Amino acid sequence: MKSIIVFASGAGSNFSSIIQYAKTNNAFSIALLVVNKEDAPVIHLAKEQGIPILILNKEVFNNTEWIATLAAYHPSLIVLVGFLWKLPEKLVTTFERKIINIHPSLLPKYGGKGMYGMHVHNAVRQANESETGITIHYVNEHYDEGAIILQEKVAIDAFDTPLAIAKKVQQLEHRYLPITIHALLK
Ligand code: GAR
Repeated sequence: MKSIIVFASGAGSNFSSIIQYAKTNNAFSIALLVVNKEDAPVIHLAKEQGIPILILNKEVFNNTEWIATLAAYHPSLIVLVGFLWKLPEKLVTTFERKIINIHPSLLPKYGGKGMYGMHVHNAVRQANESETGITIHYVNEHYDEGAIILQEKVAIDAFDTPLAIAKKVQQLEHRYLPITIHALLK
């Protein structure tokens, strides 16, 4: 069975939906969770599932020896879900076309440094957009600029708060990210 490595640092709702999908469909295994915060809630999910965890602080992250640890798992895909540090070039070149990211907007709109989580949805609301969505894309050495694999849209109603927009976007993420991973592994 093919395996993936997931990078995350937040609540882990996408990690959870990936785990559920992989189990239900016997689709792929999750070899490792990589996190950059010792207290990230997503760690508990990995522990519950018996998934190995690699915690990186800035010092370890900048000394790229840990990339060999990843390679030893022979992942078919590396999936970033809310991992906000810019990846070292060595990682991107070692796993060329094998790293994907999910972004909570319709890139190139609302992408780039500092555009993550609620910052994105606040900006979308302020701009009075009539729609938003998700982008799943390959990762290259520039923030949010790799080739786009999939975009899905959702309408924004006049009365939607940034939080309501976030919920709509999250629903798209949970629905489309696992099936996109599965499709890329086939
Ligand atoms: C997701 O909404 C993802 O799109 C976003 O972080 C969230 C992680 O949520 N990523 C970015 O904003 C990247 N720029 P989760 O921890 O609940 O999966």
